[in-house]
Amino acid sequence: MPLNWVEIDLAALRNNFYLAGRLAPGSRIIGVVKSDAYGHGMVPVARELEKCGAGFLAVGKFHEALELRQKGIELPVLVLLGIDPEDVEESVRLGVRPAIFRLDQAGMMSEAALKLNMPARVHVKLDTGMGRLGVPCGNLAAFAEKLKQMPGVVVEGILSHFAEADEADKTFCDFQIGRFTEAIETLSRQGLPFSYTHISNSAGVIDLPRAHYHLVRPGIMLYGSHPSGGTSEGIGLQPVMSFKSKIIQLKEVAAGHPIGYGRTFITQRESRIATVPVGYDDGYFRMLSNKGRALVRGKSAPLVGRVSMNLITLDMTDIPQARENDEVVLMGRQGEERITADEIAGTCGTISYEVYCAIGKQQKFKYFLNASAGGQD
Ligand SMILES: Cc1ncc(COP(=O)(O)O)c(C=O)c1O
Repeated sequence: MPLNWVEIDLAALRNNFYLAGRLAPGSRIIGVVKSDAYGHGMVPVARELEKCGAGFLAVGKFHEALELRQKGIELPVLVLLGIDPEDVEESVRLGVRPAIFRLDQAGMMSEAALKLNMPARVHVKLDTGMGRLGVPCGNLAAFAEKLKQMPGVVVEGILSHFAEADEADKTFCDFQIGRFTEAIETLSRQGLPFSYTHISNSAGVIDLPRAHYHLVRPGIMLYGSHPSGGTSEGIGLQPVMSFKSKIIQLKEVAAGHPIGYGRTFITQRESRIATVPVGYDDGYFRMLSNKGRALVRGKSAPLVGRVSMNLITLDMTDIPQARENDEVVLMGRQGEERITADEIAGTCGTISYEVYCAIGKQQKFKYFLNASAGGQD
């Protein structure tokens, strides 16, 4: 058994996937599994989403799409960050769909399509207001005219991305939806055929039924978190990732005893201090020093002292039944108590997305629980 580990509850993932499906009943789901499925483990998550009935998967980079194919996942894969020249042929050969926002990329896809005598399917990415990736709406007509002249390129989809769908005020979303609708009309008028349109991330799935279109692209909600406090609560999301460790030493110390680097915590009373082998090297943020908490025997224990590279210290004085080797839940549920990624993010001034990615990236031990029949890897 490792000293700390992550558990990924695939039954919770399924719950969240079906929930997204119920919220967007007329749309198929693109499961966003970029960045190692937000730290949850791309391949097992993708495999589970495939079994659930996802229509597509979305990754950030081509190498992620390649790995999905190499692991036998057959769903169409969208690459959100476009395509590099060295990956173009392989992309066409494997039927991977890059998001396209530059004509030179489209041109390379066309050349590869002709060379391989295979269609080069792409999704055209529009900038409707995010100001990041995408063809500016004003350039779309000219872009589409050029695309039409590129043999072999099949525009399968048109996509855009919301800048603030997770805010309570949806005014800017409506502005983006307006531009997206106009863009779709422009392309139709120009006679550029396409099958799918999509713009909604999790926040769009939850709160913007008018923006569901043919496909929706939920990410964070599949992993059981709300995009922010600005989206509707209480919809039944279940956190997928838990982060656990155990007590490796438990000791009594007198009042006035310093704890950890810099002696930032001094016991105010006779105390029981648990040392737990997890630290910032494991993705447990140092910002949690003297602010975090963990669960032991179903109760909350405050983190005292600094988070170091491999260790933290918990004040167990109010949990007298705790013993060495007890399980420690750093994130997740124990008994009636739960520590969420949102709680950790709030303490550290960040968002749940970063908490999941940080823990998932550092974690060498991931256990996939409750896989649907057929098993994993
Ligand atoms: C283009 C695109 N679509 C969809 C998503 C999924 O967003 P969320 O995790 O908020 O659902 C992301 C995530 O950043 C994205 O970049």
